[in-house]
Amino acid sequence: MSVHTRTKRLTVPQLVAMKGQQKIVSLTAYSSAIAKLIDPVVDFILIGDSTAMVGYGRPSTLSMTLEEIIGHTRAVVDSTRLACVVADMPFGSYQESPEQAFRNCAQVLARTGCDAVKLEANTALAPTVEFLVARGIPVMAHIGLMPQFVNVMGGFKAQGLTAESGTRIAEDARANLEAGAFSLLLEGVAEGLARQITEDSKMPTIGIGASPACDGQVLVTEDVLGLGGEPAPRFVKQYADVGGVIREACERYADEVRQGRFPEARHCYGL
Ligand code: KIV
Repeated sequence: MSVHTRTKRLTVPQLVAMKGQQKIVSLTAYSSAIAKLIDPVVDFILIGDSTAMVGYGRPSTLSMTLEEIIGHTRAVVDSTRLACVVADMPFGSYQESPEQAFRNCAQVLARTGCDAVKLEANTALAPTVEFLVARGIPVMAHIGLMPQFVNVMGGFKAQGLTAESGTRIAEDARANLEAGAFSLLLEGVAEGLARQITEDSKMPTIGIGASPACDGQVLVTEDVLGLGGEPAPRFVKQYADVGGVIREACERYADEVRQGRFPEARHCYGL
């Protein structure tokens, strides 16, 4: 069984030092229950803004609010003691100016105790990344398919398939690394490009739908467990059908209640 032997929470510099030594394992979590289960297994936990979709049933990540990310991140930090914890900054909470980004990222770090933040950062956002890092905020830069740009892209589409788009993503990677990002998250990026960025980068690359060429992988836990409710993206391997287990258990419960087979009051609370 693949559990690590850590006794203390992994720090950002320790995560960075894993590059070239061992692959980095990550999953998302937004609840205490899942966070506790994955804490002994993963290297870092991401509180993704995908919580808007998998946790709240919304059509995109755009509606996630700062207060929601703070609440979910706090729950994950309070429920774990081993994994490094990275919070996703919601749409609109960092794009306006470096000052706005610092104000909101500082709140996330101070009010949750998480270790770092993740920003969807193209070259235009690199000066913001530099501003944050210079002020004590570790930043993971998310490039490639950036879900907060869904309306610009016209849907969720793999990136880097043309020479022009590949050059743009390589440029986003370079600008964010120069700005001081401690890691790059590559989403929906073709293997050749992911390999080139990973080889050129001193910092770890974490892929999602970006091939084993990356230094590690993050997946949305609901997709891995068969809890997504919808077919998972093609790059996701589903490791369990927890959705099926829950449905079957609930049906058994419903059958028993309908048949009147539930504990009598005198068995509960010592009545
Ligand atoms: O919000 C999220 O879950 C993400 C994934 C791409 C990992 O950013």
